[in-house]
Amino acid sequence: MLDAIDLNDLSVPYGIYPAVLEGRPLVQRRLSDLSGCFADEAAWAAALAQEDALVYAVSSVEPADGEGQLHYGLGILYSGKIGREYYLTKGHLHAHRAAAEVYIGLAGRGEMLLEDEAGEVARRCPLGAGRIVYVPGFTAHRTVNTGPEPLVYIGVYPSSAGHDYGAIAGRNFRNVLVEEAGNPVLLKREVFLNTN
Ligand code: 6PG
Ligand code: NI
Repeated sequence: MLDAIDLNDLSVPYGIYPAVLEGRPLVQRRLSDLSGCFADEAAWAAALAQEDALVYAVSSVEPADGEGQLHYGLGILYSGKIGREYYLTKGHLHAHRAAAEVYIGLAGRGEMLLEDEAGEVARRCPLGAGRIVYVPGFTAHRTVNTGPEPLVYIGVYPSSAGHDYGAIAGRNFRNVLVEEAGNPVLLKREVFLNTN
């Protein structure tokens, strides 16, 4: 469920970060919107019972549609963990599979988790202040905040890209970024589930 939020409500935490574009459509995703995304379902349910925390928000700028046009989104992904897994975005493939995207990190520290459509090849790309990540077409992409501060970034993509969440919702990413001795490590989901 995506809700519009009141940009004039100064009590919302992201109001203090330069990560909301005033007057632009803003979507926010809370723990309750991320059912099935985190590997440790019991930890997710326990956290949700405590508070339906805001995990991330994205302001979208879509100036024009059509050939050659670009859209972009300004995202703020909060710091936190569910069990040992860091806060993350839902992740998606673009509906127009060939559409690539460029992510530009503005603040904080995190990673992009990239997987091919079959989930057989995975890549970790550092994303944070001053870091740029190129997401090729045909690539599932998820943003992960591995640091103590909000991770703020811009993603620029062709206006024709669109979002396909269904393919990821059906199988989830094959890999997870989890904390081990204070550092993020990439594990196969099934390995993590069998050893956690
Ligand atoms: C896009 C971008 C980016 C993304 C956000 C939220 O294609 O629009 O990849 O703006 O939407 O990081 O991630 P989810 O769309 O996966 O929730
Ligand atoms: Ni995208």
